[in-house]
Amino acid sequence: MKKNTWCSGELLVFSLALLLGGCDGAGGGVSDPVTAPKAPRGDKVTEMIEELDRICREQTVYMVGPEKGARLAELVRGRKPSVVVECGTALGYSGLWIARELERLDKGRLITIELDADRARQARATFEKAGLAARVEVRVGDARELVGGISEEVDFLFLDCNYANYGPCYAGIEGRLSEGALVVADNVGIGAAGMKDYLDRVRSLHESETEWFEIDLPWGKRDAMEVTVFRKAEK
Ligand SMILES: C[S@@+](CC[C@H](N)C(=O)[O-])C[C@H]1O[C@@H](n2cnc3c(N)ncnc32)[C@H](O)[C@@H]1O
Repeated sequence: MKKNTWCSGELLVFSLALLLGGCDGAGGGVSDPVTAPKAPRGDKVTEMIEELDRICREQTVYMVGPEKGARLAELVRGRKPSVVVECGTALGYSGLWIARELERLDKGRLITIELDADRARQARATFEKAGLAARVEVRVGDARELVGGISEEVDFLFLDCNYANYGPCYAGIEGRLSEGALVVADNVGIGAAGMKDYLDRVRSLHESETEWFEIDLPWGKRDAMEVTVFRKAEK
């Protein structure tokens, strides 16, 4: 698995692509801004991602930001999951990156779990407005408990719901992860100590990489995500 460190040069290309509207920055390449046809389904979601990015920064609602959002989308595109589970919806920022990729793949759905009922309501409205509601189910409650109610095979798990909850969420869903499922954990740079049990487990049992990002958020400038490939045989 490659190490992924977003540097300022890549970020500049990514930002330009966003401005030009020809690419979402998620690995599709920078296309000619004059001749390239616009992707009709992508445009509205891109606007909503940018709007939600602004709202989250203003209201200090923690979210992954565009650098990690683009990487998440790239990982979804590579794995082509039928079922994605996200623990920690907040207002649906990372969910938009994930669900847009599922829509482009014309495959899969996202189950996203949020403890705060008001945030969950806002996230639902966001997915509705983005035209992605058919791809996303927002469940309200404690992810540590609700993951136990997911009966289908899970191909992609994204953990972003308070560091100490990663271990219990992972333990609750581990038995339903498919062979080769991707498990992505956010804030591994700034929160490693708080999720030590989780990191020890996935790093000792599976192929697992820490990917670092230069980020530009009001609450952080450098952080990492842990990307783990789940193998049943290695359990
Ligand atoms: C960092 S935010 C998630 C950001 C989101 N993934 C994004 O990038 O847009 C963490 C969220 O997890 C939620 N949360 C905290 N503990 C939780 C739990 N036990 N179950 C579900 N959600 C939880 C918080 O309410 C908060 O909205």
